[in-house]
Amino acid sequence: IRSQLLYFVDDPATAGDSAWIYHADGILWIEDGLIRMAGDAAEVLLQLPSGVEIEHFDHHLVIPGFIDTHIHYPQTEMIAAYGERLLEWLETYTFPVESKFGDSEYARQIASFFLDELARNGTTTALVFGSVHPESVDAFFAEAQQRNLRMIAGKVMMDRNAPDYICDEAQQSYEQSKALIERWHGVDRLQYAVTPRFAPTSSDEQLQLAGKLLCEYPGVYMHTHLAENTEECQWVAELFPEARHYLDVYDRAGLMSRRSVFAHGIHLCDDSCKRLSETGASIAHCPSSNLFLGSGLFELDRLTEQGVSVGIGTDVGGGTSFSMLQTLADAYKIQQLRGRKLDPFRALYLATLGGARALDIEDKVGSFQRGREADFVALDLHATELLKFRTGQCKTLFETLFVLNTLGDDRVVDTTWVMGEAIHKRRAV
Ligand code: GUN
Ligand code: FE
Repeated sequence: IRSQLLYFVDDPATAGDSAWIYHADGILWIEDGLIRMAGDAAEVLLQLPSGVEIEHFDHHLVIPGFIDTHIHYPQTEMIAAYGERLLEWLETYTFPVESKFGDSEYARQIASFFLDELARNGTTTALVFGSVHPESVDAFFAEAQQRNLRMIAGKVMMDRNAPDYICDEAQQSYEQSKALIERWHGVDRLQYAVTPRFAPTSSDEQLQLAGKLLCEYPGVYMHTHLAENTEECQWVAELFPEARHYLDVYDRAGLMSRRSVFAHGIHLCDDSCKRLSETGASIAHCPSSNLFLGSGLFELDRLTEQGVSVGIGTDVGGGTSFSMLQTLADAYKIQQLRGRKLDPFRALYLATLGGARALDIEDKVGSFQRGREADFVALDLHATELLKFRTGQCKTLFETLFVLNTLGDDRVVDTTWVMGEAIHKRRAV
């Protein structure tokens, strides 16, 4: 692929300008589904064997595929549901919709639509909530496997404080999760996440059993929600009076490790940040969802300073877009409301290598270093009249990236590749 190339090798928050590598006229050389080389065209051409076919992308920027660190596939059909904040939104919209995913055929249809939508938006890896039904996860993984995608997902565990029709039981959830781990974890590019919904909908016994699964299967992920909304935080304090704070509920159950990902983390004390940092666990920041559900303003600078690993999540259907670019635009606006700045290099880092780090897969994806899996996207800087006009005025890469961040959505995603194969092309061929 010959185009402009941009990728990250470190976090701009700590490494500054040496965190990213840009080639104004670059070549991305793919061999057997992996990155062989990314460099200046002149340099790569010296090494490229003759006869290797080169695809040209003018006025495009080629970057690693986006990594969405928190999203719910069963909520695809309830995106943009009116009028409620978290707890009422769950009762009114979420639980009824998720109840349909015990039907394998239905789950498969939605999983297929969902994965196509990710591809259209340039997202090549995601950490995904299923529903409480094991069938939902079987359907999701089957569809992801067919597309050769790197995906992490799990069955929701929830045994209380929700309608019966959407609840499991502690022991049953343990056994169902175990069977899914045995069936899917480590198969092709698929990995499993033990997925208690959030503290209020799990009994102590269920959280303990989730911890037991993590002990029995090292390498399996843990994925849940944390401190999203003030009413939720208050409820957790009432339900778990013995816990020192919200995160402590999970910590006591043995749910914290390098492979634990907590969505939101808006309302966190310093001790929680310290535990996240010590254990190497990550926060999935979901700006669009936080705005849509009126949850609060994420303290990105504070968490980064306290050494917490952060990725970006769309949190569809709490979030209102599958586009990581739209989500980054909202992240910027949230920091503006706090009187802070989010520069476009850091933003794009968070959506690519930062996400890979949050998911502990930075040796696999998220960058163009040699040997990484060739999941990447070509973003068209002329995709819309406005973008063409506006980027035409930009004098620096910084400006161009910021305009792309702010105005970009699925229309700019020209082509999405997975393991070197195009799985989505916007232009008719
Ligand atoms: N907390 C518990 N369940 C959910 C969910 O489905 N979405 C969001 N945004 N927060 C939650
Ligand atoms: Fe969520």
